[in-house]
Amino acid sequence: MARSMNHSVPVIAIDGPGGAGKGTISQAVASRLGWHLLDSGSLYRVTAYAAHERGISPGDSEAVSEVARALDVRFEHNGPDIRIVLEENDVSNSIRTEEVGKMASLVAADPAVRQALIDRQRAFARAPGLVADGRDMGTVVFSDAGLKIFLTASVEERARRRYKQLKDKGMDVSLPALSRDMKERDRRDSERLVAPLRAADDARVLDSTELAIPEVVDLVISWRNEVFPL
Ligand code: DC
Repeated sequence: MARSMNHSVPVIAIDGPGGAGKGTISQAVASRLGWHLLDSGSLYRVTAYAAHERGISPGDSEAVSEVARALDVRFEHNGPDIRIVLEENDVSNSIRTEEVGKMASLVAADPAVRQALIDRQRAFARAPGLVADGRDMGTVVFSDAGLKIFLTASVEERARRRYKQLKDKGMDVSLPALSRDMKERDRRDSERLVAPLRAADDARVLDSTELAIPEVVDLVISWRNEVFPL
């Protein structure tokens, strides 16, 4: 596999299951440090969404990986908000539905799709640093990251958090259905053969079930100060 990592750029890899708070924590840490942010799940979501729009089935490996390779996607920053623009259309909300999440999990199980997205993800590692959020940031994409965190929480707590997040966006969701889907997605993400969801051997496992967001952010920042001396 072609490696194109930029070793001089510090990387914090934050992996873990859906709903563990990776997105919120990664965004807060990146903003506190003034570092770049990679929400790698959004790339799988945009790929699944774009394929679906073109009538391509998630199982059509060749066609979906071509979509992934050719993605015309931009991340536009507006203060703390990030707009995801696919071919001039704002898809920030449309890719967050549970339906797209399920399709993303299916296409993400395909090695050709993962390979098609790897260089695009590594290109996010730019000075002064990168916070990378995903499932295989510490194990595959940034396997030499200076700080690797596996952020988790109980499935009940994760389902409750995701429920609140979607409700706040005005989406119509049911907690039991979300909890069921989340278990199914965890299973698929953990059991797939390529880059399964797991903590890297050198990752610090952080269980956030009982922690508030600022406590988790402070802990990550303190680890960052330990690992990358100022
Ligand atoms: O974090 P998320 O829910 O936006 O991710 C959507 C799907 O993409 C999820 O089912 C797992 C997959 N994914 C992945 O396989 N590898 C990543 N680095 C990020 C996400």
